[in-house]
Amino acid sequence: MTRNHRLTGLLLVALALLGAATALIAWPNRMPGVLAAIGAASGPADAAAAIGGPFTLLDATTGKIVTAADFRGRWLLVYFGYTFCPDVCPTDLQKMVRALGLLGEARPEVTPVFITVDPARDRAPVMARYVALFSPDLVGLTGSEAAVDQAVRAYRVYVEKQPVPAGGGYLINHSAFMYLMNPQGKLAAILAPDLTAKGLASRIARAIGQPAGF
Ligand code: NI
Repeated sequence: MTRNHRLTGLLLVALALLGAATALIAWPNRMPGVLAAIGAASGPADAAAAIGGPFTLLDATTGKIVTAADFRGRWLLVYFGYTFCPDVCPTDLQKMVRALGLLGEARPEVTPVFITVDPARDRAPVMARYVALFSPDLVGLTGSEAAVDQAVRAYRVYVEKQPVPAGGGYLINHSAFMYLMNPQGKLAAILAPDLTAKGLASRIARAIGQPAGF
């Protein structure tokens, strides 16, 4: 093997390693829970293909039944949570709305969607009042236990009810990823909840294919 061939070989190995490292940093570290839920055997491509799917829920504000197909043609930013959530959900929803505001007028419209994981308490009037606190654009979706369960499974959301002994109530532990869905209803990006509003906006702009001008 000549020196040049050896160098080319080394370069190719380095590039392959760099590619693998980038893939590792970009995906599993950001979404260990999601990958674990899908199964360790699945790679990032499988994971992306597996997130999102059919659901039939009630739009709390309009009172209309909506399916995943009704949202085709629009970019969506989907978040699962519940109105009784003491602090994480309100903080994340506020951040979502701020991030979409930062994208500005030139962007394709991204519709923020909040899907409850607590349908027993988050009936339509409760959801409608709650989403209105954040933005008139925020779509609040609820439904029967079975309907919500279907959506939770479609997005591989982790949900665990946690009884609170005093008062007999409960909290719900849940994963808090934001799912950017493209107009074809496919996953475009999973956004970690620890991003700032600005960080979120820049990731969204990049995923949509626009330069992040903020
Ligand atoms: Ni929450």
